[in-house]
Amino acid sequence: MRIAVVPGDGIGVETTAEAMKAVRAVGEVFGRTFDLETFPWGADHYLQSGITMPPNGYAMLRDSFDAIFIGALGDPRVPDNRHARDILLGTRFELDLFVNFRPVKLLDERLCPLKNRSAADVNFVVLRENTEGLYVGIGGRFKAGTPDEIAIQEELNTYKGVHRIVKHAFDFAVASGRKSVCMADKSNAMTDGHALWQRVFRELAPQYPSIQPRHLYIDALALLMVQNPAQFDVIVTNNLFGDIITDLGAALQGGLGLAASGNLHPGRTSMFEPVHGSAPPLAGKNVANPMGAILSASLMLDYLGWHHEAAAIDAAVQDAVTNNRGTQEIGGSLGTRETGDYIAARIRAAETARREEEARQREEDERRREEEQRRRQDEEREEARRREEAEARAELPAPDAIRTAPDVGPVEPRTEQSVGTLEPHVEHGRNDHDQT
Ligand code: IPM
Ligand code: MN
Repeated sequence: MRIAVVPGDGIGVETTAEAMKAVRAVGEVFGRTFDLETFPWGADHYLQSGITMPPNGYAMLRDSFDAIFIGALGDPRVPDNRHARDILLGTRFELDLFVNFRPVKLLDERLCPLKNRSAADVNFVVLRENTEGLYVGIGGRFKAGTPDEIAIQEELNTYKGVHRIVKHAFDFAVASGRKSVCMADKSNAMTDGHALWQRVFRELAPQYPSIQPRHLYIDALALLMVQNPAQFDVIVTNNLFGDIITDLGAALQGGLGLAASGNLHPGRTSMFEPVHGSAPPLAGKNVANPMGAILSASLMLDYLGWHHEAAAIDAAVQDAVTNNRGTQEIGGSLGTRETGDYIAARIRAAETARREEEARQREEDERRREEEQRRRQDEEREEARRREEAEARAELPAPDAIRTAPDVGPVEPRTEQSVGTLEPHVEHGRNDHDQT
């Protein structure tokens, strides 16, 4: 497996380092080998070289790697953040990663800002359209900087684009055993663009009879996500609305530091990134929460088919959260590196414990097998002893035993009468003869 790693800017560099620690830890314990290749693209690289992304960058990522991991991009020294646009949005667009997969899962009720919500109440997935909508950069500014300025930014919705993300939402719901798909748009105000979402949703929903379809306007969805998040399972929406509600979702989970995402084109090289940004004020201070990045690495391994490895990472993060071994913003006292170390150590320890348990189980099975064998041998010996005894008796039969056996009782002697009744044909023949 070849994985391209772009740590990027600010805390992205720090959280990516911890995510790769977790990846290396599962690689080690599960005996997987992979090639992690780091690319220096980001603000520093851009400021030094004037290059945001090399000319063959996207094609290289797509053709030479199985997956891409990006930390975070954004730097105040690049006011228009064009490097972020090229590297992050560019990869989404150029690799046609049309699904932005953002699970919203509360790992401990203490992290939820809502009152009386358990982990079971916050567990849904947002599927955000990732290649069109308001992100396509169609528009422009006219008379910019003057009182007459006109700024236009178009939202693009195509039948193909809407169809593939909504279809993916239904397919995902079926594959993951989820019960409902809620499509959120603003078709009451955006009567043209979002009429297309309505049309596609109505077309596709009947093809998935086991999934309950539901529609909400995006504003109502935002309200209900706060009032009662337990009602949500799979949410599908456009690029901008998905961007906004996944920050809200991150808040429900305990903050941006915990939120993970995958930018997918099923079957193709896909990209994984924490939802958090580069957070320049926190950079270099060893305070950023690496869990969102680590969970994004888990999504990546899962996507690559390494389900046990991904589950091992998830379990180690859950362990860290449950035992409050995390960064300060989630109530812990560890730094970025120490949190990553703890999680990597848990991965190794859990795997060692699992192997020990397996070995113990094997020994126990072996012991049972031996015991069973001994029992069977004892039984066989007992059976053989009984047989021998019986045979010994049969060789020297007691005369009494023969006389009393029902099948060897005394035979009655034949009488003449009894012989006659045994030959009816003779009599019959005689009668025939009499009639003639
Ligand atoms: C996200 C981010 C990006 C987005 C920014 C950095 C362009 O907010 O991944 O959610 O809007 O998609
Ligand atoms: Mn965002």
